[in-house]
Amino acid sequence: MNSFGRFFRFSLWGESHGPEIGVVIDGVPAGLPLAAKDFRRDLARRRTGAPGTSTRREPDVPRLVSGIFRGKTSGAPLAVLFENRDARSGDYAGLERRPRPGHADFTAGKKFSGCNDPRGGGHFSGRLTLALVAAGVVAKRVIAPAAVSARLSEIGGVRLTPGRGRRAALARLAAVAAAGDSLGAIIACRGRGLPVGLGEPFFDALESLVAHLVLAVPGVRGIEFGAGFSAAAMTGSEHNDPIVDGAGRTASNHAGGVCGGISNGNELLFRVAAKPTASIGREQDTIDLRSGRRVRIRVRGRHDACFALRLPVVIEAAGAVVIADLMLLDQQRRRVPSGIRREK
Ligand SMILES: Cc1cc2nc3c(=O)[nH]c(=O)nc-3n(C[C@H](O)[C@H](O)[C@H](O)COP(=O)(O)O)c2cc1C
Repeated sequence: MNSFGRFFRFSLWGESHGPEIGVVIDGVPAGLPLAAKDFRRDLARRRTGAPGTSTRREPDVPRLVSGIFRGKTSGAPLAVLFENRDARSGDYAGLERRPRPGHADFTAGKKFSGCNDPRGGGHFSGRLTLALVAAGVVAKRVIAPAAVSARLSEIGGVRLTPGRGRRAALARLAAVAAAGDSLGAIIACRGRGLPVGLGEPFFDALESLVAHLVLAVPGVRGIEFGAGFSAAAMTGSEHNDPIVDGAGRTASNHAGGVCGGISNGNELLFRVAAKPTASIGREQDTIDLRSGRRVRIRVRGRHDACFALRLPVVIEAAGAVVIADLMLLDQQRRRVPSGIRREK
């Protein structure tokens, strides 16, 4: 459904072309200083504007309408709203009848018998990740000094290393986009400063929960932890991470910081694969659901040629909210921090 987590429990709501979208978070510890300006940096990292991203321009100004009192979280549900200001719904006319390949038009239309809002992908739009990023901003406060950071490590198969590869990758993306096509990417994410012990047996293993949330992000196709799929080609002696001290530090990190579903005190490492954007400028085959005939369509509207360029901060948010939930579950974070004194 649209809610996730138990102790840091959040619900996303809204549609790409509806009046507003937002997030409601239950369980935010009381007394955390929080204001709209604290959301700016992460929201900007998800915004459009860079080459290869959509020309839809949304101001993404957060309105904190519940859960804040005197500049601090109050312990009540925290609600953050955003207006949709730059929707052009006319571009999406006809998608109910002639669904885009690779998007949710067909599946959502079937599941909800055409009652769903198809404009801009409706509730299935990447726009909803704005609200997830907002939840991530709050979660990052909860888990500090632990921290999560993500970056692009590949665009369209071109590897990016610090300071290298980006120009070649963006040149390839520009050429692909000019030809009316799109690219995917890989995002590498790491969590630092996690204590040993986060994660519950059996179904709420740390990597199970991270994978659950990351795979819920629209357009994500895969996730691997540590050595991931390459572990299958390694021997045990190659893959095992030698333990070097009583805090559980290991000499290598093929496990990605998780053993038995529980954080082992090393960095949490995972990589996420995002597919190429479904809505491309080229003609494509689909079905006309009214006539039953196969037809060619050209998708209109404003789209990211590579939506994954905007994804790292979304993946960070997913990691942070899972860690926040598990820390609160473990009572590693107090519902009211000890420094908070009751104001008269
Ligand atoms: C930040 C973000 C922006 C996105 N922008 C687009 C877009 O402009 N056009 C598009 O077709 N898909 C876009 N997507 C991907 C679709 O939302 C996604 O492919 C679609 O909902 C179907 O879900 P699925 O790919 O997980 O099956 C975006 C995803 C994210 C996370």
